Amino acid sequence: MSFKTLDHVDVKGKRILVRVDLNVPVENGVVTDSTRIERIAPALRELADRDAKVILLSHFGRPKGRDPQQSLKPVAFEVAHVIKRPVKFVDDCIGEAAEKAVAAMKQGDIICLENTRFYPGEEKNDPAFVAALAKLGDIWVNDAFSAAHRAHASTEGLGHLLPAYAGRSLQAELEAFEKVLDKPQRPLAAIVGGAKISTKLDLLGHLLQKVDVLIIGGAMANTFLMAQGRKVGKSLVEKDLAATASKIMHDAIAAKREIVLPVDAVVAEKLEANVATRVVDIDKVGDNDMILDIGPRSVAYAISVLARSKTLVWNGPFGAFETQPFDTGTIEVAEAAAELTAAGKLTTVAGGGDTVAALNVAGVVDRFTYVSTAGGAFLEWLEGKALPGVEVLKT
Ligand code: 3PG
Ligand code: MG
Repeated sequence: MSFKTLDHVDVKGKRILVRVDLNVPVENGVVTDSTRIERIAPALRELADRDAKVILLSHFGRPKGRDPQQSLKPVAFEVAHVIKRPVKFVDDCIGEAAEKAVAAMKQGDIICLENTRFYPGEEKNDPAFVAALAKLGDIWVNDAFSAAHRAHASTEGLGHLLPAYAGRSLQAELEAFEKVLDKPQRPLAAIVGGAKISTKLDLLGHLLQKVDVLIIGGAMANTFLMAQGRKVGKSLVEKDLAATASKIMHDAIAAKREIVLPVDAVVAEKLEANVATRVVDIDKVGDNDMILDIGPRSVAYAISVLARSKTLVWNGPFGAFETQPFDTGTIEVAEAAAELTAAGKLTTVAGGGDTVAALNVAGVVDRFTYVSTAGGAFLEWLEGKALPGVEVLKT
C-alpha cells in the first residue's frame, strides 16, 4: 500500500487527531447500530495503549450550524461502552473549550470532540477551520473510510497540515478492496442489486471493465428485462433508462463479459409482508404482478456462478429484502457465498447502502472476507473514483 499506517509512527505522548465516522444511527438518544464503532475500537485501544493522547473527530448527520439534536454526545457515550474505556466528551471541536480539554489530557486518555459539521468550515474545507483543528494535534490519523468521499476539513484538509496516517479500519478496508478490484483472483464476479439503475450507471460501467461476470438483481434488473422486451407487469422500472440498459448489455457482450439476469421471479400483487406470492418464469410475469425477488432457478444459477468464481464483490440486495418473504433470494445467495468463503474457495467483499443491512438479515457478515460499513464511499470506490480522504494519505 502506498500510504503510512500506525506501524510507521511513534505516537507516545503525541496528540493524535483521529478522524472516525461516528455517523451512526441514533434513536431517542441511543445508538441503535454500533458496527462502525466496533470497527474503530481496535485502533482506538491501540493508540491509547501506545500512550498517545487520542482526540476523536467526526461529523454526525447533516446539521445546518450548531444543533443540540445532532450532538455527538450520546455517540461518545457508546464509544466508551464499546471500547470499555472512559471517553471524555467536549462540547466544541475548536476554540477555547477544545484547546483546554486537549491541554489537560494525559497519555492514554481519549476525548471526543463535538460534531465538526456544527461549523460550515468543515464541509467547505475552509483553511481557517482546518488550522483551528490542526492546532489541537500533532498527527492526523484517518480511520473513516466511509467519509473518505468527502473533501472536508477533518476528512481531507488536515492531511495537508499534519503528518497523515491511515487508521487500522481504513487500512483493513483498503487492503480488502485491493484483493477485489485491483489484484483479484479470477474469475471475478459482481452482484449488483438495488432499486435503480440511474444511481448506479457509473458503477455498472466501471465494474463491467473489471469483472468476468456481472449478476444483476433488485428492481434494477426489471429495467434490463424490459429492455429485452419482456413484460414486467406492475414492477418498479425506469422506463426512460431502457435504452441505457440495452447499451450496457450490448457493451458487455462486445467486451466478452457475462451479464446474468433473473430467469424466474417471485411475484405478488403488492409489496406487503406475507402477501400471497407465486414463482413464475421470467417471461410469464402477469399484468398485475410485481417482481419482488429472484426465483429459485435464478438463485441456483447465481450460486453456480459463485462456485466457479474466486472473487466476489457485492453491492445491493436481490429483492425487496426488508419485507418477508422477499429476502429469500438474498439470504440464500449470501449463505452460499459465506460457505464458499469459509471453505477458502471465494474471497467475498460487500458494502454500500442497504447491503450491510441485507447481509445482516442473512446473518453472514462475520463470514464474508470483508463487509464495508461505508455507503457512498463504497459506491464511489466501485465507480473507480479517487476518494479525497484516501488520496491525501498517499505518500
Ligand atoms: C455516511 O454515513 O455515509 C458517511 O458518514 C457520510 O455522511 P454524509 O453522506 O452525510 O457525508
Ligand atoms: Mg451518506
